[in-house]
Amino acid sequence: MAQQSILLGITGGIAAYKSAELVRLLKKAGHQVRVVMTAGAEAFVRPMTFQALSGEAVRTSLLDPEAELGMGHIELAKWADTILVAPASADFIARLAHGMADDLLTTVCSATEAPIVLAPAMNQAMWRNGRTQRNIGLLQADPQISIWGPDAGEQACGDTGPGRMLEPEELFARLTGGANRGALAGRRVVITAGPTREAIDPVRYITNHSSGKMGYALAEAAREAGAAVELISGPVSLSAPFGVRVRPVVTAADMLATSMAAVDTGCDIFIASAAVADYRPATCAGQKIKKSADDMTLALTRNPDTLATVAARPDAPFTVGFAAETNDVARYAIAKMQQKHLRMIIANDVSQPGLGFNSDDNAVTAFWADGQQTFAAAAKRELAGHLIDLIAAQYARNTPGAGRATTDESTSNEEDA
Ligand code: PMT
Repeated sequence: MAQQSILLGITGGIAAYKSAELVRLLKKAGHQVRVVMTAGAEAFVRPMTFQALSGEAVRTSLLDPEAELGMGHIELAKWADTILVAPASADFIARLAHGMADDLLTTVCSATEAPIVLAPAMNQAMWRNGRTQRNIGLLQADPQISIWGPDAGEQACGDTGPGRMLEPEELFARLTGGANRGALAGRRVVITAGPTREAIDPVRYITNHSSGKMGYALAEAAREAGAAVELISGPVSLSAPFGVRVRPVVTAADMLATSMAAVDTGCDIFIASAAVADYRPATCAGQKIKKSADDMTLALTRNPDTLATVAARPDAPFTVGFAAETNDVARYAIAKMQQKHLRMIIANDVSQPGLGFNSDDNAVTAFWADGQQTFAAAAKRELAGHLIDLIAAQYARNTPGAGRATTDESTSNEEDA
């Protein structure tokens, strides 16, 4: 991956000592690292440790007359490609969630346009505390912020439970794109995810059970494979995957318009994992519909099909659809692939408990013109990595000049039809 300018924020917690190893790993991989420490962090580790490892002066104070001569906090905010706060204490999380800018680190976070990643670390009771969880909820809803971890396990205070900071190696791998196999390096990938909502009146709507987990996992995996990823997302309660541009939408019409705009700006691969409502109310009442003693009939009208519209473009990208079926899964999925003129379709049997809609796991079969591959039940995050490998391989195979992706591992159980 390209060299990055990473601002590492360190707040007060015993896990601060682990961040020294993170600086070492990042520097060894050729990244530029600057460190900002809060007063609490200085109580655990001396700034000199990070200065020696990063080769840069460590900043600790907002009101540092020398640094602020050159508007130091704004310079830092603009310099950073990414800000990672590790460990992120409960106090720091609370201050950031409420837009405070009362020390250097919160001020830089307020002034930056870079993605901000938080790696929480605290006692398990502090993590579970309702106020902390409300603050986490606020930050999760912020498209600039990603929250990585915490892990669960034995804690420095002797408790056991959630609150351990992710290990430096894990943070390093996520920040730099894991193994970064680069199968999609230089490619632009647009992914749709989540449900759509179709208004009946100002207080009611039609929707479905999609959580967005499958699409968000695909976006993360595509980014790790080196792609620039745009995620067109219906209303979900997931945080933006790190390094992925999220475009929120509500209705099927929004999903179509936003997807077409994303494809207009250049798209190599389009993956539609969203569960788009096929119908919307023919009219949306301006006022709340009052109930009466009678039954009520709702007239529905067809929604536009984003995937089919993208696939029909003269400059269509490599289009991949999903099919959520409850019976005759392969037959319906292949028919959809043919009707919508797709290059691939990924079929899931959503009648199986614990898989598909709104669950952490899924099991799928991918179909393409002359082959298919089945993936047994696995976590969506793991499955997404395999699917992205497979899609990258099929894309390379079908796109002159795209180069052959290295996917030996993922295609080892391929059953060509
Ligand atoms: O979000 P999760 O909780 O993680 O669940 C994941 C999932 C089950 C939603 C996902 O794996 C999945 O199957 N997504 C597609 C669901 C679906 O609506 O399938 P479909 O068979 O109705 O549509 C076929 C394809 O056309 C899909 O790629 C869909 O995104 C696309 N489509 C459908 C209708 C429409 N108006 N526009 C579309 O783009």
